[in-house]
This record gives sequence, structure tokens and C-alpha cells, in this order.
Amino acid sequence: MRVRVSRLVVFLWRDGQLVCDDPLRHRQFALTVEAERLLRDYADWAEPEGRLAQQLLDAHVLVAEGSPEHAQEERLGAWRDLGPAATYYHLASRTLGSDVFRSAAQDAAVLRAKSGQPDPVREHDGPRIALPPADPPAVDFTTVLAARRSTRWFDPDRPVPLPAFAALLRWTAGVRREVDVSGVGTALLKTVPSGGARHPVEVYPVVRDVAGLEPGIYHYAVRRHELVRLAPAPGEDRLREWCGGQPHAAQAGFLLMYAAVLDRTVWKYPAARAYRALLLDVGHLSQTVYLTATALGLGTFFTAATRDAPVEDALGLSWPDEAFLGVSGVGVPHPAERDRQAAMLAGGDAAFSFPPDAWHGRGE
Ligand SMILES: Cc1cc2nc3c(=O)[nH]c(=O)nc-3n(C[C@H](O)[C@H](O)[C@H](O)COP(=O)(O)O)c2cc1C
Repeated sequence: MRVRVSRLVVFLWRDGQLVCDDPLRHRQFALTVEAERLLRDYADWAEPEGRLAQQLLDAHVLVAEGSPEHAQEERLGAWRDLGPAATYYHLASRTLGSDVFRSAAQDAAVLRAKSGQPDPVREHDGPRIALPPADPPAVDFTTVLAARRSTRWFDPDRPVPLPAFAALLRWTAGVRREVDVSGVGTALLKTVPSGGARHPVEVYPVVRDVAGLEPGIYHYAVRRHELVRLAPAPGEDRLREWCGGQPHAAQAGFLLMYAAVLDRTVWKYPAARAYRALLLDVGHLSQTVYLTATALGLGTFFTAATRDAPVEDALGLSWPDEAFLGVSGVGVPHPAERDRQAAMLAGGDAAFSFPPDAWHGRGE
């Protein structure tokens, strides 16, 4: 029987010691210098020799050729392409049958014992612009659901009306109510759900063409329903570059940049799994933007194909505090695109939304 180092374990230096982290079983071992040296001999299949090799095999740091563990490593499927970083994160944050879940009462007791929760809203310094307290029209919900599409062809001649811009922010990221959680602090309630009611996602509108608003980079103050101006408008080349070269990103009336304030969620959930909640929160927000934009007669698309580092620089975000996670682009649909989507809704040809000079989504 030959053995080699497991492909699923990860080695990390912690406090001067090499630690083997087995994400599949949620176990960590500090390795002795002897074990560390011995592992080099098993980078590839070799006969196990001695008690230490047997102990490492028993601990699943080594796997035996032909064993169920070996078969599992051979059956990685899509994880092979997702790569070791994604595989490690997924397994390390994947719960096991033995995981202990706290009750809501236990959770509350733990939170009350902690010192002050992070502020549920972010305030930025800068010139403030009050937004009108606009609402989306009262439209039939089923109609909105059926009409929701990704739009990538915008009208170059029609800026987004300010009331529509304001209504979209107010009914997606805006605060609807607040709950006073005894001994913990305030929790926000929005139209969007959020893991643990933490609402970590901040919205940074990048305005290109909204009637009555100076183009620029803003922060949306969710309690006051105001914009705070942070920086001048980036050029259209940068908007395109930020969104992985997608032309429609530079043609939308505005982009909503989503960034999660890590502390807000991690204060309540100090575990790797909380990162999943941040991504899920962005998804819920994006979908609410999709539906609200549809109700307002606007077109929208979401993209995660972004150049994160330059966006963080432009927004003044530092990744240890606030993680940039995605973008919704919103604008007035081009009249031809509006007609196409209406025809599709009425049973006409189905296709993705693309301007006629771009790939139109049928793969032809
Ligand atoms: C996680 C995620 C990432 C997406 N990335 C992009 C993107 O990079 N560019 C884009 O134009 N649309 C993007 N979309 C929109 C999808 O392409 C779109 O939802 C899909 O083609 C189905 O079309 P529909 O939204 O009209 O139903 C994304 C959607 C999601 C949920």
C-alpha cells in the first residue's frame, strides 16, 4: 500500500508552527518538525515507513492509494476547476452533522455579553444631497416578476429621472423600520432580507446620467435617504474597465456598487461561514433592485465580473474593512429594447438583451 499527502488538506503557519488544516473534517493539527520533514517524502506515492507515517495516515494527512479517501480526491468534479482556494473555503465553511447551532436566546445572550455592536449604518463626510421621498408605482406583482429581465441596451438620449433613481434606492437599500434589540442595539429592517439583520452591504451609486444630479461617485445614506458626494465622475472607459470590459456598464445611467462592511456581520457571526452570508446578502439586494427597477420601467443588469482592486481605490474602500462584491447597472432601456422585451413577454422570440452591434445572446 502506497500513501501520499492528501490533496484536500492545507498547511498554514500559525504562531511559529506548521498547522495542517483538514477542511473536510474540520480538524487542525500542529505538526512536529519530524512530521513536517517526513511529509516531504510523501509528496508523491511512496510506501509508508514507521509509526509517524501511520499516525499521519490515521489523521488523514496522508491518504492510501485505492482508499475511499483517495477515490474522493479523484472525484473532485467541478472543484478541480474552481481551484484549491474555492475548495478549501467551501469545505472549511461547510457544516457537519456534529455542528452545534445556538438557539436565538443563546445567540442573544452571547451578543449582550459583547461590547457595542458595530454601527448598522456608515456615514461618510462630504456634500449631502437630499433625495425626493419617491415611491415606485403600485404595479401588479406578477406582472413585475414576469417582466424582469437583464437589460444591456440603454437609451443614450434619456437620463434616468431623479424620482425613479430616488425611489429605487429608497425601496431597496433604504431603511423601512428599526428594531431596538434589548441589550444589543438597533437592527435595521429593509425591503431586502439580511443574514442576522446585519445589513452589511453599503451602496455606492456611480452616477453617469441621472436628471438633476451631477455625475460622480456617491454614497447612499440609508437612514437619511441622502447622497453623499465622494469623488468626481469616472470616465466611461473606467466604468467599462471596472466591469470587465462590458460596454453596457458605460452606458447605464448609474451603477450601484455593493460593498459589505465586514465587522457588521462578523460581530454576530465570527466564523468563515459568515462570508457566504455576505455574498447571499448582495444577491438578495440585487434581485430587489431588479424587481424595483422593473416596476419603475427601468432596465438593469447585475455583474460580478468586476475589477475589484481599482473599484476599491476609486471608492476609497480598504478590503480588510469593506469588501466590494458586485454591481447593478441601471438605466432607461433603449426604445427598441423596451419593445423587444414587451414582445418577448407577449410570447415573441426569446433572446438575451444585447445592443444590435454586440453579441445578441443567441450564440450565432
Ligand atoms: C451572479 C450573477 C452574475 C451575473 N453577471 C453578469 C455579467 O457579468 N454581465 C451581464 O451582463 N449580466 C450578468 N448577469 C445577468 C445574467 O447574465 C442574466 O441573469 C442571465 O443571462 C439570464 O437573463 P435574465 O436576467 O434576463 O433572466 C449576472 C447575474 C447574476 C445573478
